[in-house]
Amino acid sequence: MASVSLERLSKIYDQRVPALSELSLDIPDGAFTVLLGPSGCGKSTVLRLVAGLDLPDSGRIRLDLRDVTRLPPGDRDVAMVFQHYALYPHLTVRENLEFPLRMRRVPPIQRRPRLLQVAELLQLGGLLDRLPSQLSGGQRQRVALGRALVREPRAFLLDEPLSNLDATLRAELRSELSRLHQRVGTTMLYVTHDQIEAMTMADRIAVLRAGWLEQEGTPAELYDAPATSFVAGFIGAPGMNLLPAQTWREGGVWGDLIPAAWRRDRADQAGVRPEALRLVPAGQGAAAEVTLVERFGADALVHLSAGGEQLVVRAAAGALPSRGQPIGVATEWAALHWFGPDGRRLP
Ligand SMILES: Nc1ncnc2c1ncn2[C@@H]1O[C@H](COP(=O)(O)OP(=O)(O)OP(=O)(O)O)[C@@H](O)[C@H]1O
Ligand SMILES: [Mg+2]
Repeated sequence: MASVSLERLSKIYDQRVPALSELSLDIPDGAFTVLLGPSGCGKSTVLRLVAGLDLPDSGRIRLDLRDVTRLPPGDRDVAMVFQHYALYPHLTVRENLEFPLRMRRVPPIQRRPRLLQVAELLQLGGLLDRLPSQLSGGQRQRVALGRALVREPRAFLLDEPLSNLDATLRAELRSELSRLHQRVGTTMLYVTHDQIEAMTMADRIAVLRAGWLEQEGTPAELYDAPATSFVAGFIGAPGMNLLPAQTWREGGVWGDLIPAAWRRDRADQAGVRPEALRLVPAGQGAAAEVTLVERFGADALVHLSAGGEQLVVRAAAGALPSRGQPIGVATEWAALHWFGPDGRRLP
């Protein structure tokens, strides 16, 4: 196992748009760190640089204290699992799992126990003699993970390993991966654009946006105190409601939600999580109209339109309003987040 340290890493593919700009990140030995961000923000680029599949234009990568920035992939002892897992179609599960060990000339007598251990860990025991074409998507993805695991690398790099699976399997493998990490304790750098995966699995999350690091911290830190309005809108399902200052400064409907006494002078946006808003009878709070009700069983999302803006409220499943109904919405001062003109959280 190893700690991974990125120091001011930059990568420019296209002269005009850097894929990665001065990214510094410390991943402690044994931690599960998630790189989170929208498509094209540079997540896979980071993994490719750490794996050695690409070289940075500047900056440094260390595994423990060793500078590996320019080492070939084979000398880094990290294993990468790709989004589109590639198994050898003509090899059985057993042979696929053994392949990395053969490549590294591990003697057969040592291969067997490692293979069986990984097969047990990933519940592949009964599938060892099947071909990949005889497996479900989730089973194939487990084999791909197993192939990385048998090597016992110093760090795992996982690039959206669950994105090809259906929702149920994804949730299942999500918890399996967390348990796996608890058992093997290997440092993991996990890439996803799915903030639920990030929130549920990560020890720490690094949010990237257009090649820049927006915020790094524990899931709770990102949720409770997003450093920027971008992180506020990205973390949470759905993200935070963000209201531009001009709406509430004018008074009216938004003035009823965010009274003058609460307002911060330098704020450009006020943010409030869907779960921090409360539906109240029409005539109380700020006047709104229900535009959509999405029921999830245990709770629901109620979409409101008020003063030309949209708001989402998380509500208990009990007595839900119906579409078109006039209603009131309220919140508390302590639930509000404030962001300045540069999008950064006001201290
Ligand atoms: N080989 C390449 N040549 C030119 N541009 C590239 C290359 N690889 C990536 N890029 C560009 O670099 C930026 C970052 O790409 P990257 O693959 O790291 O994004 P990502 O965050 O992994 O996105 P996704 O979630 O879609 O996989 C993108 O703008 C992409 O178009
Ligand atoms: Mg990618």
